[in-house]
Amino acid sequence: MQIIAHRGASGEYPENTLLAIEQATVQGADAVEIDVFAVQGELIVIHDHHLARTTNGTGSIYQYSLAKLMQLDAGQGQRIPTLWQVLELTHNKCWLNIELKGDDTVAPLLALLNKAEQQLGFDLESLVISSFNHHLLSAIKQQQPQLRLGALTASLPLDYAAFASTLQAYSVHCDVSFINQAFVDDAKARDLKVFVYTVDQPDDIQRLKAYGVDGIFSNFPARSRKLSNKKPA
Ligand code: G3P
Ligand code: MG
Repeated sequence: MQIIAHRGASGEYPENTLLAIEQATVQGADAVEIDVFAVQGELIVIHDHHLARTTNGTGSIYQYSLAKLMQLDAGQGQRIPTLWQVLELTHNKCWLNIELKGDDTVAPLLALLNKAEQQLGFDLESLVISSFNHHLLSAIKQQQPQLRLGALTASLPLDYAAFASTLQAYSVHCDVSFINQAFVDDAKARDLKVFVYTVDQPDDIQRLKAYGVDGIFSNFPARSRKLSNKKPA
């Protein structure tokens, strides 16, 4: 079962910062998940569009110039990273799950990935692009069908993972509160990978392993790796 560092190693370091992402790679996470918004066409890595929870700023990211956003403290002296910085950092280290939060993210994302391929030799197969907004995923599928898409859901739909098949997604990303064996079996029958968020508790880790899920999003990647390697009692 793969361990995906949720917002980096965010249980120990400020979430969605280069420090948390670097530490996740040091801790041997298979992948890092980050959240992305677009501000003035630049993709930045932050979970909320309001700044107060994770930075020393107030109000919305859209009220600031990019230069001003870059000056904020995102914890332990860290800055809000750009997606480009994260691509540079994770390149050749682990795979990356970019979760799109803003609805104006697709065009800047595709332009940036094109640049990353040209300038860094970035392997696009080391990416999964996910969103709760499936319209964004559909737009990406139309423009760049080879990109891997992760269809996020916070519910247990009546037709199980059919929505992810419709999107021709690579994976389905499910809430630990709702996942069950029937959903996992349905997704597997559709040739979808199953990744589950957010999983830090030992009983959940053992249960999901037993379901046969492909990976979990964890705030504590090193600890979750140990727990997942442990034999059930
Ligand atoms: O991508 C998995 C998970 O991060 C989705 O929820 O709110 O933590 O972005 P959220
Ligand atoms: Mg997320």
